[in-house]
Amino acid sequence: LRAVDQIGQLATVEGADWDLEIGTVSALNYRRRSPLALLFDDIAGYPRGYRVLTGSVSSAQRLGYTLGLGTAQDDRSLVENLRGLPTRWQNTAAQHRATQTDVAPILDNCVEAPDVDLSIFPTPRWHEHDGGRYLGTGCMVITSDPHSGAVNGGAYRIQLQDDGRTATINIGPGKHGHQNIEKWFASEGRAPFVASMGHDPIFLVVAGTEVPAGVSELDYAGAVLGRPVEFVRAGETGLPIPATSEIAVEGWLTPDTTRTEGPFGEWTGYYSGSDAPVLAMNISRLYFRDEPIILGAPPGLPPHDYSYMRSVMKSAMILDGLTSSGLTGVTGVWAHECGGGRLLIAVALKQAYGGHSRQAAYLTAQGPFSAYMNRYVIVVDDDIDPRNLDEVMWAVCTRSDPANDIEIMTKSWGDSVDPVLSSSNLPYNSRAVIDACRDFHLLTKFPKVAHPNESLIQAARRRWPDLLAEGR
Ligand SMILES: Cc1cc2nc3c(=O)[nH]c(=O)nc-3n(C[C@H](O)[C@H](O)[C@H](O)COP(=O)(O)O)c2cc1C
Repeated sequence: LRAVDQIGQLATVEGADWDLEIGTVSALNYRRRSPLALLFDDIAGYPRGYRVLTGSVSSAQRLGYTLGLGTAQDDRSLVENLRGLPTRWQNTAAQHRATQTDVAPILDNCVEAPDVDLSIFPTPRWHEHDGGRYLGTGCMVITSDPHSGAVNGGAYRIQLQDDGRTATINIGPGKHGHQNIEKWFASEGRAPFVASMGHDPIFLVVAGTEVPAGVSELDYAGAVLGRPVEFVRAGETGLPIPATSEIAVEGWLTPDTTRTEGPFGEWTGYYSGSDAPVLAMNISRLYFRDEPIILGAPPGLPPHDYSYMRSVMKSAMILDGLTSSGLTGVTGVWAHECGGGRLLIAVALKQAYGGHSRQAAYLTAQGPFSAYMNRYVIVVDDDIDPRNLDEVMWAVCTRSDPANDIEIMTKSWGDSVDPVLSSSNLPYNSRAVIDACRDFHLLTKFPKVAHPNESLIQAARRRWPDLLAEGR
């Protein structure tokens, strides 16, 4: 927070109400050209110092800082600096194994069952039609594989239940945490968990990003930062709690302890999830530091709290995935925020052979790094900036022929959170790839672009520097 304050990107908001006001101010902030990090203090009805932070990674500078890349970043430099890193992080996570400590602020306070009461925290009701108050949005739920012992951290939303005596965890099927819990249920009848609800935003980034199975998000965070992160061991379950955690609980999940959860404003921009019962926590212990900060990361109509982070991380992972698949010629990838970083992916390509652009399109639409909840992939030539939606759509309008250049795939990896699927109850979606590259066989014959060439542009800029300054 000190570093973010130093670059002028932190604002403190005093006196907001947990009931919709924090959510509304945050939602308006995300729509600004350059959203700030907002630290809510003096929240109505709660002691001063019990705070909520939103917008933690909603700018290139703050995300760069969180990833250990420094604050001198913009969209382009961030993606360039991330080139090759996701693969490196994955391969070096084991060399940055998290280390145990016995001294951490999270140990300031420890409350044991049956005295645990989560209502002491200023948990926001984020959106008007939410089914309750969500303490966990930018959170990390830690589980383990009962057979291998491998630890997993995932961001799965946490809603207060029973006036704060318990809380539910909403984990989508197929998520690593879900698989771990199912294995524990099958072998032991109950599953241990830890949930951290405020921490260094690096944990929001790694827990909310598809880190490969078997790689601990704590170790992965160490690989990102280039130094191991510290954890304290939870007294009852033995699972790790990040030493920088502000609020954490540990306990057990059992198949028959459930509560109705939601609805919740989703990353698609709708209240589109299902309202089936989900697992509720049997909390053994609550840990929190003095004057704790809840790390809020509410989704909603994009751009939302973590849509920028998702776009950057997804773009870097897709670029890495395509490159390591052996595909050549990819010059840029952008997973657009309007599609929550999943639904719309633009890929720029320097075509080298007939069929190259379709190959890039199909791989992107179904690669493990992007298949979940994708809907549109647009492949463009390398003269198009994939981040610039106007340029991408110009290529679609002028270089694709709908009858020949839009291909549909069916029965692909969807989710009930999809507003289009929410009434059908089927987990499949269909998706379109749009090949907006000039036809390979017409590359040399395709009409020239009617825009001044680079040397004319530079000459004009030199002559009228003030008038033509970049960014005006
Ligand atoms: C702030 C935030 C909240 C999220 N909420 C949920 C959620 O409630 N349920 C869910 O299944 N995934 C949620 N996700 C997506 C998962 O965190 C993401 O798919 C992650 O890769 C899951 O980790 P895993 O692959 O280790 O299971 C959220 C992501 C973020 C960044």
